[in-house]
Amino acid sequence: MNRRNFLATGFASSTIPFIKIKNEQPADKVRLGFIGVGLRGRNHVEQALYRDDVEVTAICDVDPDAINRTLKITQKFNRKDPAVYGKNDHDFLNMLKRDDIDGVVIATPWEWHVPMSVESMKAGKYTAVEVSATVTLQESWDLVDTYEKTGSHCMILENVCYRRDVMTVLNMVRKGMFGEMLYGHCGYQHDLREVKFNDGKKFYGGGVEFGEKAISEAKWRTQHSVDRNGDIYPTHGLGPVAHWMDINRGNKFNFLTSMATKSRGLHKYIVDKGGADHPNAKVKFKLGDIVTTNIQCENGENIVIIHDTNSPRPYSLAFRAQGTEGIWTEDNKSIYLEGKSPKAHSWEPFESYQKTYDHPLWANHAASAEKAGHGGIDFFVIRAFIESIKNKVAPPIDVYDAAAWSAISPLSELSIARGSSPVEIPDFTRGKWKTNKRIFGLNDQF
Ligand SMILES: NC(=O)c1ccc[n+]([C@@H]2O[C@H](COP(=O)([O-])OP(=O)(O)OC[C@H]3O[C@@H](n4cnc5c(N)ncnc54)[C@H](O)[C@@H]3O)[C@@H](O)[C@H]2O)c1
Repeated sequence: MNRRNFLATGFASSTIPFIKIKNEQPADKVRLGFIGVGLRGRNHVEQALYRDDVEVTAICDVDPDAINRTLKITQKFNRKDPAVYGKNDHDFLNMLKRDDIDGVVIATPWEWHVPMSVESMKAGKYTAVEVSATVTLQESWDLVDTYEKTGSHCMILENVCYRRDVMTVLNMVRKGMFGEMLYGHCGYQHDLREVKFNDGKKFYGGGVEFGEKAISEAKWRTQHSVDRNGDIYPTHGLGPVAHWMDINRGNKFNFLTSMATKSRGLHKYIVDKGGADHPNAKVKFKLGDIVTTNIQCENGENIVIIHDTNSPRPYSLAFRAQGTEGIWTEDNKSIYLEGKSPKAHSWEPFESYQKTYDHPLWANHAASAEKAGHGGIDFFVIRAFIESIKNKVAPPIDVYDAAAWSAISPLSELSIARGSSPVEIPDFTRGKWKTNKRIFGLNDQF
């Protein structure tokens, strides 16, 4: 069975079989349009331009500075200037009317993801959306319903799914090396205090020098910490774990409970940096400093997700994979497999397993990934989107993944608001999880 037939089979059983696959030649060129060319969007533009088979036909951003910076990138690659949109917040609708765009990459603030993705799918474009894909539960349904109505694919650009170590673990999970899976642990543990307050002058009254990144994200990201108490950024951790556990493909999330600590870090940061009289010292942040969510899966596994962005700490996504026969943890880069590891009850370094069980995607494409920079994962995630368009197949991370992973945010908010009571996680596949086949990481294609 060749790859295309294989994907076609997986696709037909998992979603609506509208694609003609047989005898179809891959497209030579893929024409992309970008909505939101801030820091993340420009990174995607650059990754796409490394490829000769991609044309960037249009870009859209309401910030002229973002547009200018993007044009400099396309010029650096000696490409034709893309058409520019961004006269107002809804100019993306005009961009979507173009018939020289096959795929649209959306990297705007979270609240824009679904309105833009829905319109892009309706316009018949392959759609890629940044993480988290959705903010509310209704939005997760809107993505799924629009896909099912239009047949236009929607991929969530969860780059961490392509991290080399988590793909190696995926390989080992699928070979049964951990036995039967019991437990996944993950999170977003990233001290974002600088990022959240990095429009410095406005927030502190000046004097604090910060990087470009924070200035731009602080414009929209910080407000979510004021308004919401839940795991507001779950997918970097959850994406890889969902693949280990075959979520939406033989397994599903059933329910969750979430708990939040008190909120201290952001207020303390303002006072420490700007003084107790700083106007923003009056801001009440709803977001607990550490939010822990526990998911019960249909096949009996538990997944714990930590959201921890307001306190001083080193970066870690806190991955742990555990089954009846062994355990891997990211933080100490170690593994223990019963009957295989040399010493009972003792960790063994993961390094040799990383080499032996390296996922074929990485083993075969590491050189190109490294050439494209950014540690490789951004190369792989945008490559997967482009190859899906070229081959006219479903993307390996699909709309059901986008809906289910992102829904953890509003559902964790609900659980916390109800005193950590269990909250049901909807089955966005409407039962198709029982027969859906795996599509992510099956081979070295994408
Ligand atoms: N996967 C990752 O590793 C990763 C890393 C960083 C950011 N992200 C995600 O990427 C997205 C963007 O983050 P960022 O850091 O680039 O933020 P950013 O603020 O730098 O960029 C967002 C851009 O969207 C533009 N924009 C806002 N509203 C718009 C509209 N209506 N029409 C057109 N443009 C509009 C803004 O002007 C800005 O340039 C977020 O969803 C974020 O979570 C993902």
